[in-house]
Amino acid sequence: MSSQPTFRTPTDPGRLPTTLPLLHEKKRLGEPIVMVTAYDYPSARAAEAAGVDLVLVGDSAATTVLGYNATTPVELTDMLVLTRAVRRGLNTPLLIGDLPFGSYEVSDEQAITTAMRMVKEGGCEVVKLEGGAEAPARRARAIVGAGIPVMGHVGLTPQTSTALGGWKAQGRTAAAAARIAAEALALQDAGCFALVFEAIPAAVTEELMGLIEIPVIGIGAGAATDGQVLVFHDLLGIRDGLGPRFVKRYANLQQEMNDGVGAFAEDVRARRYPGPEHTYSVDPAELAELQELLADRYGG
Ligand code: KIV
Repeated sequence: MSSQPTFRTPTDPGRLPTTLPLLHEKKRLGEPIVMVTAYDYPSARAAEAAGVDLVLVGDSAATTVLGYNATTPVELTDMLVLTRAVRRGLNTPLLIGDLPFGSYEVSDEQAITTAMRMVKEGGCEVVKLEGGAEAPARRARAIVGAGIPVMGHVGLTPQTSTALGGWKAQGRTAAAAARIAAEALALQDAGCFALVFEAIPAAVTEELMGLIEIPVIGIGAGAATDGQVLVFHDLLGIRDGLGPRFVKRYANLQQEMNDGVGAFAEDVRARRYPGPEHTYSVDPAELAELQELLADRYGG
């Protein structure tokens, strides 16, 4: 009998937690791996109910829920609050905590300390960092050496998008694509358990996939990767505008939210809300006593 603990969810009582061996097995079998971002308890519950494999508390929280126009301002303390909320909503998906800009680049010690805080205080199981050049690969190796699995991230790495020339597809020249290949291989060599490929031409991804042994999750990198990730707010339309070209929108919740809050405002202004069904009752005798008491005490 297996000694592995089983978690039971209301949606799928038989589903086992995602483990690293399970991810590698999915890659081997060619079973697509599903990943979404989440930033709070309700988004985590939606990911759990959908039975996704991986949930990332992305530093995209900076733009999706904190209102910044870039990912760089988000702090480790912000990420810890969000990660704890997501943790409370998840049973079975593997929880990945994104290391925010400035929290791992300075030294291996800083990277290990940050990753440990994400695990101990945030409750995630693994962490993700951006970039595959020499320094990020060294940080990944250091964190893996400290016992925390790391997911790498190459292609468009939003934390360093200024240096990359903006939020745009990467690897569109042979030299740039070869650089992405070298970074992906460096991260694999550093011990990363998986990689994110972001905003890379599909044909380039197809060329690179044959080189990579670990699972690759794509976002705007075509269909050849082992899995796909989308940002929760992009796929559900909780945003203004359509977002990047690679986003497929499955709902338009921003419009639903606007409509719902607008209808509430109209109801309040027209005195349609609250109705009798939204109010509490009181025993008429108690009410009569209160009226007498108020009259005695305050007159009128
Ligand atoms: O922060 C994030 O949401 C990400 C995904 C785009 C992979 O890094």
